[in-house]
Amino acid sequence: MSAPRKVHIKSYGCQMNVYDSDRMADLLTQDGYGETATAADADVVILNTCHIRDKAVEKVYSELGRIRAVKHAAAREGRRLAVVVAGCVAQAEGEEIARRAGVVDVIIGPQSYHRLPSLLARAEREGLQVDTEFPLESKFDALARGAQQAVRRRGISAFVTVQEGCDKFCTFCVVPYTRGAEMSRPVAAILAEVKELAAAGVREVTLIGQNVSAYRGAGPDGAAFTLGRLLHAVAAITGLSRLRYTTSHPGDLDAALIAAHRDLPALMPFVHLPVQSGSDRVLAAMNRRYTNATYRRAIERLLSARSDLAFSSDFIVGFPGETEADFQESVRLVDAIGYAGAFSFKYSARPGTPAAALPDQIPEAVKRDRLLRLQAAIDRNQAAFNAKCLGARLPVLLEKPGRHAGQLVGRSPYMQPVHVMADGSMIGETAMVTVTGLSANSLEGTLAPETSHPGRMGEPETCPG
Ligand code: 5AD
Ligand code: SF4
Repeated sequence: MSAPRKVHIKSYGCQMNVYDSDRMADLLTQDGYGETATAADADVVILNTCHIRDKAVEKVYSELGRIRAVKHAAAREGRRLAVVVAGCVAQAEGEEIARRAGVVDVIIGPQSYHRLPSLLARAEREGLQVDTEFPLESKFDALARGAQQAVRRRGISAFVTVQEGCDKFCTFCVVPYTRGAEMSRPVAAILAEVKELAAAGVREVTLIGQNVSAYRGAGPDGAAFTLGRLLHAVAAITGLSRLRYTTSHPGDLDAALIAAHRDLPALMPFVHLPVQSGSDRVLAAMNRRYTNATYRRAIERLLSARSDLAFSSDFIVGFPGETEADFQESVRLVDAIGYAGAFSFKYSARPGTPAAALPDQIPEAVKRDRLLRLQAAIDRNQAAFNAKCLGARLPVLLEKPGRHAGQLVGRSPYMQPVHVMADGSMIGETAMVTVTGLSANSLEGTLAPETSHPGRMGEPETCPG
């Protein structure tokens, strides 16, 4: 009997890609493959790529350079290594990738990776295969489910894609082109997937999509569910202790979603709400469809539903035409909201997007300087938020062993990593932890006497005020 073939998958970019990579692994597992952590002993290497910024794309090309050497080494041993480029770079650049990088056997967009096994077989016979269509059949219908063991290996927190694509067309963003139009999965398919995850030991589910607040999936009676209603249905599944969702658009927060934060204790009090800029002029040029004031109002509405909510965000600095005064509005917003954390990026002109053609592109040195200053403001707010947790008792979902013997790492409701001395058998439990110290961006704590049992929904929380 020949040894099972092995696949090595490297995922770049967002959580959608992490989810898609796991589904590709599940598909190939069904086809007899095992997973390997290194490219050197793989028969298939998949790079699941991100096109959101220039830097993300360049990373893929430099990795392809390294893989060329691995492929040649395998060939010298008489082995064939098939190289797959999947994801958004594949969608956006198609055959150009093969011209630029040479080593590639299959180029496959995010909507067609259910065709991966047949494309790999065809590539072996006929050479380069490119599939960047938006096929009529849904990849979700064709996708394999992970075996229980694979689900467990991936940990007790899992992503579930509920929505994909985006119709917002922010002027800087490639997503509407690479991921296509908004599409929502039916409620029944999502609930079935979450039930399987919970049965395999998953305790926390994050519903993901480019724009989950625009979720409009068909319910059992054919009528569309909003995200708020979907969250209620998912929260009713036995075995889960925590629910999250990401990413939402500040213009799409409806009353049902806001009420879900009041009504569902399992819905964690932490919302990622990308704002991109604090300046109304820049927000309009970005086509974000809200203003600084309406964004703040959205935050206030959420806080009125649940006062212990904390927020994170995304910011872009150096959007074309951004003045120092515009930039200062972003810094002021960071301080006004007091984010628990935020991502910030230098504007990257993406081919084919409207903003790439705008006059007044900002010089690199100015972008760099603004990024540093914004990051300093974000870090200051994050440190202040973490400092408020000192002495608090927080429910921590224990996820995996820590770096030191006898230590576990978990997450607070606010996504902070928390290190605590606890027995490995407690992985999957929500433990009450007293926060005793801070280190970089994580918390240190000790187990408080009351510890919950796995599967109990919505622990009472002692939150930083
Ligand atoms: N340049 C810089 N950042 C970008 N993002 C999206 N497109 C660009 C771009 N062209 C950022 C946004 C978004 C996050 C996922 O990536 O902040 O919310
Ligand atoms: Fe991109 Fe805007 Fe859609 Fe977010 S809402 S995915 S930034 S187009």
